[in-house]
Amino acid sequence: MNILAFNGSPRKKWNTAQLLQRALDGAASAGAETELVHLCTEPFKGCTSCFACKHKGSQTKGLCAYRDALTPILVKARQADAFIIGSPVYYDYPTAQTRAFLERLLFPVDTYLVDADGSRLRVLDTTIPTAMIYTMNCPQWYMEKVNYPTILGANEAALKRLFGYCETLYSCDTYQFSDYSKYACNMFSEEKKAVQKANQFPKDLDNAFALGQRLAALIAQEKR
Ligand SMILES: Cc1cc2nc3c(=O)[nH]c(=O)nc-3n(C[C@H](O)[C@H](O)[C@H](O)COP(=O)(O)O)c2cc1C
Repeated sequence: MNILAFNGSPRKKWNTAQLLQRALDGAASAGAETELVHLCTEPFKGCTSCFACKHKGSQTKGLCAYRDALTPILVKARQADAFIIGSPVYYDYPTAQTRAFLERLLFPVDTYLVDADGSRLRVLDTTIPTAMIYTMNCPQWYMEKVNYPTILGANEAALKRLFGYCETLYSCDTYQFSDYSKYACNMFSEEKKAVQKANQFPKDLDNAFALGQRLAALIAQEKR
């Protein structure tokens, strides 16, 4: 059982990476082999709209035909039994790297074909459990006020439709700087951030661990 996590933060050791690693620890505790892949290490583009995956008789088999540094990462994602994508929220959306990765991952497994009921046909005939993890500066009440669950939920909906299962974990009010005193910033109080980091972030890490365990359990169920 192979469970991967893709980090869409440009930072390899911060909030998003830590939550992803904890989710992988949960998956490993349930017997999975795991790997954390950082998207920021490779230069790559989003979908180039070449439509090779939409040609009649296309042989792309759910893998993006455009070849660049993302190709080996996409191959890994497609070979995984389950995967988790983590991203900080940048201006209300996932980061550019995460968006580009999602476009290249999702479009080749999507179709413009509908059945008699008008439902979109899927390329995959199996379920690959997936999850999204988002980290953000704002507190939970603000996240709800500005509709992040709706905005970001679009990715969960697409992953659910195309891979059969997706769930989302939100981690709010994250600690952003290693030393707040060095930055021009009076919008956030370092003291309040430190309390959140000490009290809430460990709970988010526990929730990530449980998420990893759930994905592993779903795979075990599928294989039975
Ligand atoms: C360019 C940029 C834009 C951001 N935009 C938002 C935003 O719209 N909403 C928010 O809550 N946090 C925003 N943040 C804060 C990050 O989402 C937050 O610090 C996140 O936890 C960073 O993840 P990391 O620690 O894994 O790098 C932004 C940060 C950066 C650098």
